[in-house]
Amino acid sequence: MIIAIDGPAASGKGTLGRRLADHLGLAHLDTGLLYRAVACALIDRKTALSDIAAATHAAETLTPEQLADPRLRGAAMGEFASVISAYQPVRDALLAFQHQFARQQPGAVLDGRDIGTVVCPDADVKLFITAAPEERARRRHLELQNRGENTAYDTILSDILRRDGRDMTRSTAPLKAAADALTLDTTHLDAEAAFKAALALVAARTGKTDLAS
Ligand code: DC
Repeated sequence: MIIAIDGPAASGKGTLGRRLADHLGLAHLDTGLLYRAVACALIDRKTALSDIAAATHAAETLTPEQLADPRLRGAAMGEFASVISAYQPVRDALLAFQHQFARQQPGAVLDGRDIGTVVCPDADVKLFITAAPEERARRRHLELQNRGENTAYDTILSDILRRDGRDMTRSTAPLKAAADALTLDTTHLDAEAAFKAALALVAARTGKTDLAS
């Protein structure tokens, strides 16, 4: 079984993806980490983010070990990742990695921006997770504070809005819900309620009603 989860920045899709995967015994890939790792490789090599050839090379030579780097989760890396993710050759280079991950048995949950539309268009279940920008900023603010990163709420909100704008309007694989995706608005749901709601959608879409218990 393949579950594709897409949604804007800080919508909680990563947390949700991990919980669904754990519950269902599936592997989980946060595909945002791939783009963050490519950006991080450029930063480490002191290479400009505008260098498409270098970014493509970094994507082609990416190893799973790089995804464990805690620096990838920082706010700045999300912004850098958004910039290099607009390059078509970078996206092409990361596609093979994602396809290979999605092919494993008994299945996988992948979350990102273009999973239901481009990476896994035949996924068994497609979820589009959204929440009001102010609520997403509140959650990201808390998460960054817990990591010891003291970024002001207003800065986080404007970063989120700018990143959403870039991710939705880029010409290649823009962020959007697949036509057959089920949308879940988590603005008024905590992580537990969002998980239960998502599980109910998976059960409904697959017809496996025992999943939701
Ligand atoms: O989900 P995230 O915040 O870790 O993603 C960081 C950036 O990576 C995001 O702003 C756009 C890009 N991204 C993408 O273009 N496609 C994906 N499937 C995942 C992330």
